[in-house]
Amino acid sequence: SWTPDTFVDTTVAELKKKIGTDKVILGLSGGVDSSVAAMLLHKAIGKNLHCIFVNNGLLRKNEFHDVLKQYEGMGLNVKGVDASARFLDALAGKSDPEEKRKTIGRVFIEVFDDEAHMVEDAKWLAQGTIYPDVIESVSATGGPSATIKSHHNVGGLPDFMKLKVVEPLRMLFKDEVRRVGASMDMSPTLLGRHPFPGPGLAIRILGDITPEKVRILQEVDAIFINGLREWGLYDQVWQAGAMLLPVDSVGVMGDERTYEKCVALRAVESTDGMTADWVNLPYNFLQKTSNDIINKVKGVNRVVYDISSKPPATIEWE
Ligand code: XMP
Repeated sequence: SWTPDTFVDTTVAELKKKIGTDKVILGLSGGVDSSVAAMLLHKAIGKNLHCIFVNNGLLRKNEFHDVLKQYEGMGLNVKGVDASARFLDALAGKSDPEEKRKTIGRVFIEVFDDEAHMVEDAKWLAQGTIYPDVIESVSATGGPSATIKSHHNVGGLPDFMKLKVVEPLRMLFKDEVRRVGASMDMSPTLLGRHPFPGPGLAIRILGDITPEKVRILQEVDAIFINGLREWGLYDQVWQAGAMLLPVDSVGVMGDERTYEKCVALRAVESTDGMTADWVNLPYNFLQKTSNDIINKVKGVNRVVYDISSKPPATIEWE
């Protein structure tokens, strides 16, 4: 019968045989799938695995730095590429969600292709594709592989997509991926992370994206997510995040009326993201979180909690 330990042993042996001394490129997203795929390949081929972790400027607060450190700590041969400015420049003035997604996908491919060209003689592209990605056309969990899949038709095939593809997780479900990661002693915090969309905070900032809006949302999101962890609620939630609404609403400060931003907090329970229920978070947690956000994040004067389930309300607001 299937066990994570035997899966690791047989997969590492197969990868060694298949890849030999070839070089492999893999895009890390910070998510569970790409991280576990990287760890399996690392066990099989060590330094011949060249991981690339791109900061698109739309990650959570401190995420690029913290996750990069974590990857380095795992012994991965990883290059962090901070392309924030390139993404944010390309997004300037764009409000339509599909246009934002396409822009992010296009820039990601350009950045990734540039980086892939720097790995001389690479023969393989590794991806963290899991079984549900194989049977559905669009990944619910995002990450570079999903971005690549949904955008590979834009402007011809980039060179890295002409590489041979290796997908060690393509027969596994998410819970099996987590168990495989655990059997390789990967950090429970990494393995238990909520899914995060490939376009990141871009689809949680309604309307156009500016560096200032990204900064505000990163601060709000960090207070919410760290709070969930501190209150022991993080693992009861399938996915959580904050949305920056394109509404300035009125507030008071002394005798003055102010117009500042409104944010919506969202936390859902789900198994695959296809359907989802809003989570009944404790009132005192919401109260504390709202106070912290309004007191600490300049430019926000109103916090609401999203009590809509999917369908019909989607998880992201885009
Ligand atoms: P929705 O908003 O459609 O989200 O209910 C379902 C799941 O998909 C994620 N999501 C995305 N992931 N690129 C991604 O990689 C996207 O454009 C995208 N849009 C939504 C969302 O975070 C949730 O887990």
